[in-house]
Amino acid sequence: MKIAVLPGDGIGPEIVRQATKVLERLRADGLPVEVETASIGGAGYDADGDPLPAKTLDVARAADAIVLGAVGGPRYDTLPRAMRPEQGLLRIRKELGLFTNLRPAMVYEELASASSLKPELVSGLDIMILRELTGDIYFGQPRGRRTNDAGEREGFDTMRYSESEIARIARVGFEIARKRSRRLCSVDKANVLDTSILWREVVTEVGRDFPDVELSHMYVDNAAMQLVRAPKQFDVILTGNMFGDILSDEASMLTGSIGMLPSASLDAQGKGLYEPIHGSAPDIAGRDVANPLATILSLGMMMRYTFDNEEAAARIERAVARVLQDGRRTGDIAGPGATPIGTEAMGDAVVAALADAAHR
Ligand code: IPM
Ligand code: MG
Repeated sequence: MKIAVLPGDGIGPEIVRQATKVLERLRADGLPVEVETASIGGAGYDADGDPLPAKTLDVARAADAIVLGAVGGPRYDTLPRAMRPEQGLLRIRKELGLFTNLRPAMVYEELASASSLKPELVSGLDIMILRELTGDIYFGQPRGRRTNDAGEREGFDTMRYSESEIARIARVGFEIARKRSRRLCSVDKANVLDTSILWREVVTEVGRDFPDVELSHMYVDNAAMQLVRAPKQFDVILTGNMFGDILSDEASMLTGSIGMLPSASLDAQGKGLYEPIHGSAPDIAGRDVANPLATILSLGMMMRYTFDNEEAAARIERAVARVLQDGRRTGDIAGPGATPIGTEAMGDAVVAALADAAHR
């Protein structure tokens, strides 16, 4: 298991350190884990003048899987776009062909009251958001700035999807739905956008190969509303890059904290990059208060999706469930009255729980 570790910026290094402890524990228990660390984002820019240094890309290519913390910070906000930390992340996704982005939103019973929605609306929630990750307005050309005929500055981007890009992510969506409740909701803006009209057409065509899966379509504005009105109506949500970015942040709040949500970004062969869906949170960086659970849960997804090791995946997930049952909380999920523990202590608690989880 060759794993590239890319801590990144802000809280990235401290949360990734907790994930590394978990990997060390798994190695001590006999998994053939090998780790190599490299820089990305602002850290890449500081070290090599590039948010995705060539040697980082080499390390990532050579690895079976990658764990990433987060990128970005106010220090880099004024750099030209190509040098900004976010470009490191977007480029590694594109370079490695990681077009499938899985963002599960699951509510732990212990945390149902930490959600900003009423506990009964979210209790038992288990949604899978499937976001296309290498196309759409994020990568469409042309894009840029120009001066228009009126002599004004103008910014422009291109929303674009080809048929094959839509079909391959749709197929992943139907396959996932097959393993869950056999319901797939495709989200678009087909009442306005040509890109979305094609999206809906192609998803419908692919659906003919999956007659056992019930396909529905929803406009993204309605989906955003339904997610906070009655989120349990959803099982698998399939959507494009930008709508998926927005809806997955929204869905994270159903679960209590964005600090709980892992993600997997996969290529066609199952190689993957695993990262929390939250950002680098520069305001709390270095203070030992960040929640490392999303990153640790991302390792669980890594064991499942890249290494096909369900036992290790379940063991990590049980360990996280266990520390929550034991009442361990970082500040973001503590709720009134609870005494939060720090990032390191949470990492240690999960490592300790892993020892137990091995024998169940
Ligand atoms: C995410 C993030 C990234 C994205 C940023 C950091 C480029 O918000 O992974 O959701 O927009 O994809
Ligand atoms: Mg996002």
